[in-house]
Amino acid sequence: MKCNRMVDVGRRQFLRGGLVGAAGAAAATVMPASQAKAQGLARVDYPSNRLANVADLAVNEPLDIAYPDADSPGVLLKLGAAVDGGVGPDGDIVAFSVLCPHKGWLMSYNSGDKTLNCPGHYSRFDCEAGGQQTWGHATQNLPQFELRVDDQGDIYAEGVDELIYGRLSNVL
Ligand code: FES
Repeated sequence: MKCNRMVDVGRRQFLRGGLVGAAGAAAATVMPASQAKAQGLARVDYPSNRLANVADLAVNEPLDIAYPDADSPGVLLKLGAAVDGGVGPDGDIVAFSVLCPHKGWLMSYNSGDKTLNCPGHYSRFDCEAGGQQTWGHATQNLPQFELRVDDQGDIYAEGVDELIYGRLSNVL
């Protein structure tokens, strides 16, 4: 008998909790204007920076660059075969941050397998697959710089697809 009463009390408390939860969910769907505005401000305006000209690049020879500012080192690569996100006449030009997403060590390019390799804890990132991590400790893929090539062959960086290591915002 006592046991049945306990079950009944537990059921009522569960139902009450469910109602409170439903009310909270309904309130959460209406976002205050101030919160919506704050989210809008979180969007980043990236600079359009000229990195090099197509004629400056040789297949599989990395060119040091920096984007979106001088404190964010990166590498510009002509991979030799078209890849997703690649630009230029052959669709094979890409650019990445060389700061490891794990703890910010400076990475180097391995032309043998077209990866960026970290000397810190050995993470590896595939430059032919959008900077996908193939090994290691990092918890995100490598930030890739979004590129555009104009009629003269000048290559511009105009965005970044992941958070650059050590930053709360890619543009400071
Ligand atoms: Fe690159 Fe740890 S800093 S794997």
